[in-house]
Amino acid sequence: MEFLQLAKKRYSVRKYQSRKVEPEKLMKILEAARVAPTGANTQPQRLIVVQEQEGLEKLKKAANVFGSPLAIIVCGDHKVVWKRPFDGKDILDIDASIVTDHMMLQATELGLGTLWVCYFDPDVLRKEFELPDHIEPINILAIGYADGEPASPERHDKTRKPIEHILYK
Ligand SMILES: Cc1cc2nc3c(=O)[nH]c(=O)nc-3n(C[C@H](O)[C@H](O)[C@H](O)COP(=O)(O)O)c2cc1C
Repeated sequence: MEFLQLAKKRYSVRKYQSRKVEPEKLMKILEAARVAPTGANTQPQRLIVVQEQEGLEKLKKAANVFGSPLAIIVCGDHKVVWKRPFDGKDILDIDASIVTDHMMLQATELGLGTLWVCYFDPDVLRKEFELPDHIEPINILAIGYADGEPASPERHDKTRKPIEHILYK
């Protein structure tokens, strides 16, 4: 599928079927995470794949993933991420988000629905998944088969600002 067509097809899915995501599809999504670019190629992404009931229950304590049968907690390792020498900026959020976006679009291409979730309690997530201090949970990607009518790929005409509004100068 042509890239813009895929990008416009994607929408936030907040209702999922109980149908499981096939292991081959999950592997393709993880491969997309593996090949994603990261600053200085440090590859600080650390992924927690949650699909068993016990894990989903733990996740539920920290975030709403709207009943998706699969969620990937995208974490990053502060020990290995590149830091900009001028000001020490740690680019972990950026790396983790490129990885998340790669997985999200790969899932879309496979006919799956996704929801990017940042509204979660990091302390609860850390506790439930026993994360050490240097591993930060950054994004959660809910994945599964969408239930209900898909959003129209034409919706961006109304739901997004025109190009001239996003050009700063
Ligand atoms: C970085 C980021 C964080 C988001 N966090 C949440 C979230 O915690 N909960 C939620 O329901 N949607 C979340 N979303 C989904 C956005 O609300 C959604 O992408 C946006 O409204 C555009 O709608 P669309 O994805 O259907 O095109 C997030 C999206 C992004 C990119």
